[in-house]
Amino acid sequence: MKQSRNVSLQRFNTFGVPATASRVAQLSRVEDLARCTFMPGRDLVLGGGSNLLLTGDIEGTVFLNRMAGMRLLEDSHEGALVECASGELWHSMVLWSLAHGLCGLENLSLIPGLVGAAPIQNIGAYGVELSDVLVSVRCWDWLAGKPVEFTAEDCRLGYRTSRFKTDDANRFLVTSIRMNLARRFQPRLEYAGIEEQLGAMGVSEVTADLVSRAVIALRKRKLPDPALVGNAGSFFKNPAVTADLADTLKADFPTLPAYPAGDGRYKLSAAWMIDHCGWKGHRAGDAGVSDQHALVLVNHGTASGRELLELARRVAASVQDRFGVALEPEPVIVGAPWQESPDS
Ligand code: EPU
Repeated sequence: MKQSRNVSLQRFNTFGVPATASRVAQLSRVEDLARCTFMPGRDLVLGGGSNLLLTGDIEGTVFLNRMAGMRLLEDSHEGALVECASGELWHSMVLWSLAHGLCGLENLSLIPGLVGAAPIQNIGAYGVELSDVLVSVRCWDWLAGKPVEFTAEDCRLGYRTSRFKTDDANRFLVTSIRMNLARRFQPRLEYAGIEEQLGAMGVSEVTADLVSRAVIALRKRKLPDPALVGNAGSFFKNPAVTADLADTLKADFPTLPAYPAGDGRYKLSAAWMIDHCGWKGHRAGDAGVSDQHALVLVNHGTASGRELLELARRVAASVQDRFGVALEPEPVIVGAPWQESPDS
């Protein structure tokens, strides 16, 4: 296991904010884990760094996930059981599955980050979530010091959440995931924009590869590229509210997008509300709200994690004032609570 001291984490987080780790250890094999200890609040597991906001230095060890490998465990005319190590790039795995003639991940193309982060927040895009294909997740249990496997059901996946992000936050390190992928393509084209994009590409017969290409084009057009401007994708989740509140808001704001959340509540577009409050393109120093997509906070250069957090809190407060709706951050915030305590 390769280890280094006093390492800058700036290039390991897609916001590109400065932070230093006292120690960095690179995990390339599950066996490495038996020699490690992990203390929540002191240590940190880092995947692609695309879904976190660092607000200070890490006094303990940062574990960089470099576990690699993808394979077909079972293969038939209907489909395949695929296993992928958690340190692989999610998008590389999507392309690998498509190259093997397997369908199910095409709508999840180009999501940044590593495979290990996928079950933690049940990644989703364009009408599909990991929960649609996930079979099981293998983890290292830091507390018990041994491997453990969870069925997809045991993971308690929800909209951008799971047991790994809530009750069991920091207890498990995901080492690999297994998914059921199909040979027969079942298009999922309901999400706004996909059909239009396929039309613009002149597609007459839709395939999984073409949906993947359409999603890649859409994401490139709609979301700022972290290689060009620091960001962590959507900074806020789309809030779910009661049907009553959704009705009241729709009466006042008829163009506010609202979709049934499946549990009697309605999911509102956080981007629309933030946009409506006038934040799109706003800058406070180098911390900003993207002018491409109101849900994305960006680091124009030298913003610190604290400055981005401060801006995010102001954005959420203005949405709360205007719409009476609380926004919650999507990325993991390291080193500071989301809600400022009254005496801080
Ligand atoms: N909108 C605005 N202003 C904007 C952008 C969007 O008003 O600047 C409105 C539009 O009415 C648009 C609606 O918001 O129709 C929804 O926008 P979009 O289709 O981009 O979806 P989203 O709800 O903003 C979610 C995910 C994205 C995912 C897209 C596509 C969350 C928090 N975000 O965004 O995921 O790519 O749907 O499925 O659920 C991510 O998680 O990091 C992420 C990028």
